[in-house]
Amino acid sequence: MNTKQPKIAVVTGAGSGIGRAVATELLRAGWSVALAGRRPATLEETAALVPEGASLAVRTDVAQPGDVTGLFAAAVDRFGRVDLLFNNAGINGPRDVPVEDLPYDAWRHVVDTNLNGAFLCAQAAFRQMKEQEPQGGRIINNGSVSAHTPRPRSVAYTATKHALTGLTKSLSLDGRPYGIAVGQIDIGNAATDMTARMQTGALQANGEIAPEPVMDVADVARTVRHMAELPSAANVQFATVLATAMPYVGRG
Ligand SMILES: NC(=O)c1ccc[n+]([C@@H]2O[C@H](COP(=O)([O-])OP(=O)(O)OC[C@H]3O[C@@H](n4cnc5c(N)ncnc54)[C@H](OP(=O)(O)O)[C@@H]3O)[C@@H](O)[C@H]2O)c1
Repeated sequence: MNTKQPKIAVVTGAGSGIGRAVATELLRAGWSVALAGRRPATLEETAALVPEGASLAVRTDVAQPGDVTGLFAAAVDRFGRVDLLFNNAGINGPRDVPVEDLPYDAWRHVVDTNLNGAFLCAQAAFRQMKEQEPQGGRIINNGSVSAHTPRPRSVAYTATKHALTGLTKSLSLDGRPYGIAVGQIDIGNAATDMTARMQTGALQANGEIAPEPVMDVADVARTVRHMAELPSAANVQFATVLATAMPYVGRG
């Protein structure tokens, strides 16, 4: 990385899975990283994986506007500015529930986390990036291949991930005057807690339960770092990274 480039990041969902892998990848590359999530203990575990790294754990529920304001205030207070938001926190919602049986509270919880939380974090990042000197920064939203194509019985997750694509496109346009680059990574089957069932058996479109191939989160983390470290004049607008042999490609 060009040492003249600024390198202060906020990573949400940094206590596990993809968020942890990206946070540690950035820390090892010399970035300072604010680690956000609801469970402080897992954030501290992430920080301990790179003891020489400049990290700050901030207990945050991304669905709570006050928490998000506090997260960005803490990051700026500690590191001086924000150059990157990896907008990653997300949940699946109830698994394999038919649309007609999905409780409204469950729908709202997924929307509050995946869409409203991503919006709140992006808005806070925008405000900071617009105001800081030098102006600008980068936001990378964590979409999904579910931003393109659903799995069966995943209406809340799929709807929020499609909505993230709209969020990415709007922010990307609105960020231009301020040097704020906005892109999205759409991942398929990285091995994390969220996808643990893929290796034993996941519901397929034809009703069968079948195991699916997965890939290492480290390969996702390297992709995010590449996106993060591009010069400000360049942006990966959308990147799709998926387990090579997963059924997603080729109609199953
Ligand atoms: N793994 C894949 O193959 C895959 C594929 C496509 C997309 N994704 C996306 O990747 C992201 C990360 O998923 P993952 O696979 O790494 O699963 P994960 O290990 O379950 O990570 C989800 C993270 O989000 C955090 N989180 C959840 N609700 C939150 C809230 N309200 N406020 C703050 N943090 C919250 C969790 O931390 P706390 O519980 O401590 O808050 C957790 O660290 C998600 O957006 C997911 O949709 C993953």
